[in-house]
Amino acid sequence: VGPTRRTAALGSVLSLAACSAPAQPVAGPLPPLKTIAPFPVGASVMTGQFDDPAFVALLTSQFGQVTAEWQMKMEAILRDDGGFDFRDADAIAAFAAARGMRLHGHTLIWYSQERPAFTRIDGTGKRFADAYRNYILAVAGRYRGQAVSWDVVNEPVAEDGNGYRDCIWRRNLGMDYVARAFHHAREADPRALLFLNDYHLESRPKKRATFLALAEQLLKAGAPLEGVGTQSHLLSDLPPGAVKTAMRDLASLGLPIHVSEYDCSLQVGPFGRRAREAAQVRIAAEMAEAFMSLPARQRFAFTIWGVRDKDSWLRRPPNAGDGTDAPLMFTDDGRPKPMTQAFVEGLTRG
Ligand code: XIL
Repeated sequence: VGPTRRTAALGSVLSLAACSAPAQPVAGPLPPLKTIAPFPVGASVMTGQFDDPAFVALLTSQFGQVTAEWQMKMEAILRDDGGFDFRDADAIAAFAAARGMRLHGHTLIWYSQERPAFTRIDGTGKRFADAYRNYILAVAGRYRGQAVSWDVVNEPVAEDGNGYRDCIWRRNLGMDYVARAFHHAREADPRALLFLNDYHLESRPKKRATFLALAEQLLKAGAPLEGVGTQSHLLSDLPPGAVKTAMRDLASLGLPIHVSEYDCSLQVGPFGRRAREAAQVRIAAEMAEAFMSLPARQRFAFTIWGVRDKDSWLRRPPNAGDGTDAPLMFTDDGRPKPMTQAFVEGLTRG
């Protein structure tokens, strides 16, 4: 089940249809996130958004780092004939460079990104392994010196936390596909910080344990794993304390941590819109406090998966539910929300 279907399924079970989504109150004037947080605060972006001056103004005033929401993924870069199309990825890298923003690379290898150029050579042994290496060398190599970091392998852990996902990479290379990807990424870019990234690490302790076990194996085997990414696509049903426990566990390896795709959906949670919004505020405070409680050298960055609520993937098919989700830090018209204020306040308490 891909990330999109996963959210769609949740949305259909507990939709917001019963609640009429009143506009959330706006928080008072707040200092820009990037000026108040003692670590880089990032946002995901798509090239189409660069044409919207309001988006660009808000992005550049609030955030210091960008992640491509999908234009640096294999589905965007690798053509069916095996050639590469870097136009959109380059545009994002150029945008970041021109604005003095850090660029986080996302993502080299992902179970859900099976492409014709690879399915065609499925089962060919060395040929497949060579193409795998070439892909990583080409992509991570292109942004060498620009991307400060990469999600080298995304979402390797099985949905229920029982072992690891089956995928074209694993079928051809065994579980060694993960370590290989890290070695190839290192070969392509000796300086970028290399991350393993996954989701539901806060809500599913079992999945978190499996994720950490993989990270430990990689380290033991000498793979250049240098950071752990927790996507933190949260739902407003997350119980108090879950975020703190997760952050403590994830920090146990001593590596930098990237909250890599933060959003907090209102599509699932306690009964009623108000209660869900209140939970969203509490969770944002907990996230900030938990992240602040890490040693400074382990706070790699905190990235939010979009800028304004209307920019969120949870507002687009097939994840949109009834279309009223408001999972991000800014309203549709670019104003901070109560969750933003709670996040900022949490930074000072943490
Ligand atoms: C999502 C994007 O937001 C969508 O626009 C795209 O269609 C699918 O991918 N985990 C990840 C992200 O690592 O890359 C996903 O982004 C969300 C889940």
